[in-house]
Amino acid sequence: MKIAMIAAVAENHAIGINNKMPWYLPGDLRYFKAVTMGKPIIMGRKTFDSLRKPLPGRTNIVITRDKNWHHEGVKVVHSLEDAISLAEDVAMINGNEEIMVIGGEQIYRQALDKADRLYLTKVFRSFDGDAFFPEINESDWGITAREDQVSEDEQALEFSYQVLDRKSA
Ligand SMILES: NC(=O)c1ccc[n+]([C@@H]2O[C@H](COP(=O)([O-])OP(=O)(O)OC[C@H]3O[C@@H](n4cnc5c(N)ncnc54)[C@H](OP(=O)(O)O)[C@@H]3O)[C@@H](O)[C@H]2O)c1
Repeated sequence: MKIAMIAAVAENHAIGINNKMPWYLPGDLRYFKAVTMGKPIIMGRKTFDSLRKPLPGRTNIVITRDKNWHHEGVKVVHSLEDAISLAEDVAMINGNEEIMVIGGEQIYRQALDKADRLYLTKVFRSFDGDAFFPEINESDWGITAREDQVSEDEQALEFSYQVLDRKSA
């Protein structure tokens, strides 16, 4: 079972500001939906707050330290280890080949060492942010797929869908 992380990351590593995405890229939202659909998704409580409701067609697993926190349609856990274990059980039942870690910063930082695959949408511009993707050691990862894009609106934002797989030791 693969542990995959998916994130859209600016040149300066920004991924969020004020608990929102720093940009509006509808193409990337469609890509995110296509990659995650049908799979268990793991997120921090703040990322869930930014979504406001569970994402349909996926088992939503939210990590929080608050033992009283709950939300309809969400499976609540209190550690990353429990989130991964639950996601693996769900994936096994569903026949998924990977579980998806969907953010945000705190969860990416804790999960990076465990990840086998990164789906990174690299946005080739810097943005103001208060949440950032962790530094990755480029030599640990090989690019399996890359698709360059330009947004179709007036911002003409250049970005690239990249799939990185951890090189075997
Ligand atoms: N660009 C992208 O692809 C992308 C994707 C996702 C999110 N984001 C952005 O990232 C930002 C949110 O990231 P964030 O780092 O602030 O928050 P986060 O990682 O989404 O959630 C943090 C929360 O998760 C819980 N948590 C973290 N580690 C835990 C642990 N070991 N055990 C139990 N609970 C734990 C805590 O919840 P409690 O406080 O409830 O205890 C903590 O406050 C937002 O701006 C969002 O828009 C961007």
